Amino acid sequence: MGKTYKIAVIAGDGTGPEVMAEGIKVLKAVSDIIGFNVETIDYDFSGERYLKTGELIPDSAIEELKQVDSIYLGAVGHPDVKPGILEHGVLLKLRFALDQYINLRPIKLYPNVYTPVRDKGPEEIDFVVVRENTEGLYIGSGGFLKKGTKDEVASQLMVNTRKGVERCIRYAFEYTRKRNQGKRLTLCAKTNVLVFAHDLWERTFYEVGEEYPDITTNYAHVDATCMWMLKNPEWFDVIVTCNMFGDIITDLGAMIQGGMGIAAGGNLNPEGVSMFEPIGGSAPKYTGMGVINPLACICAGQMLLEELGETKAAKRIEKGVVKALSNNLKSLSAGKMGYCTSEVGDLVAKYACE
Ligand code: IPM
Ligand code: MN
Repeated sequence: MGKTYKIAVIAGDGTGPEVMAEGIKVLKAVSDIIGFNVETIDYDFSGERYLKTGELIPDSAIEELKQVDSIYLGAVGHPDVKPGILEHGVLLKLRFALDQYINLRPIKLYPNVYTPVRDKGPEEIDFVVVRENTEGLYIGSGGFLKKGTKDEVASQLMVNTRKGVERCIRYAFEYTRKRNQGKRLTLCAKTNVLVFAHDLWERTFYEVGEEYPDITTNYAHVDATCMWMLKNPEWFDVIVTCNMFGDIITDLGAMIQGGMGIAAGGNLNPEGVSMFEPIGGSAPKYTGMGVINPLACICAGQMLLEELGETKAAKRIEKGVVKALSNNLKSLSAGKMGYCTSEVGDLVAKYACE
């Protein structure tokens, strides 16, 4: 049989392993049909492991992960671990160590999915956010002075490098061209306040844009972007933005595409190893009940195959998801789907292979 892809699987905490089982089920189903192999290698990085061993991700594992074809992540987050530890120690650590400088988040409303935006449907809600993923406010630089006193000072540095901004913007232009749907790229920033950081973004955006005469460029402040995403989502084709703004606007995006049950994203290193994940968290209260919706994880698997160049297999997954949404699922919310977690995986796998 055809090519074999090595996929590192980090199922993680809470409902992560349950959704991941369905994601892999669907990956394997379509790989059989198309004729390639998926070899999974499990890694147990999680809050659970941290509580037992005190270890987050050892450096040796990072080196191993540099050798795989892709990484598939369920969810990392544990109610007994203080906020910040797992975020920095697992998720951000992987993004930074593997230089996954793009966070790609499609905002696509499928037919028969509820959106809270009135009078808008799948025709109007279909765009992609390209979020810078290794710089900005996320670099973890800053500190306290006189902590705990009345004179306390806290600073958090936002760092933007020409190289980091340019590679992100360049990726966004290339992506917009390849997507070939409107060919409109919007820079979302805050040039009226962040007069240094986002001046660099704006200058770089228009400079690089000169190399892409086929792409229409425009600009929107981040606050206005939030407004347009609800009022006129059809205006967007591709949005490129900094790390922090991308984090915020993609949660809004997830809501207008039907919620965390469907929203997926990819942390990409176009020259290296990328990592795909459902955007939602570990939903600990639903652990082990078989009620969590696996579609977001399945859609992350679709993006993973797309990135590997297995376009036909990726399209099959999307077809399977769309059919399950149209024919079967009552809702995307946990416990209200009308099916249990593994039945949803079965349905998508079956439809994907038709
Ligand atoms: C996300 C998450 C992460 C982020 C957290 C968990 C560090 O919110 O992937 O959007 O802020 O990037
Ligand atoms: Mn987020």
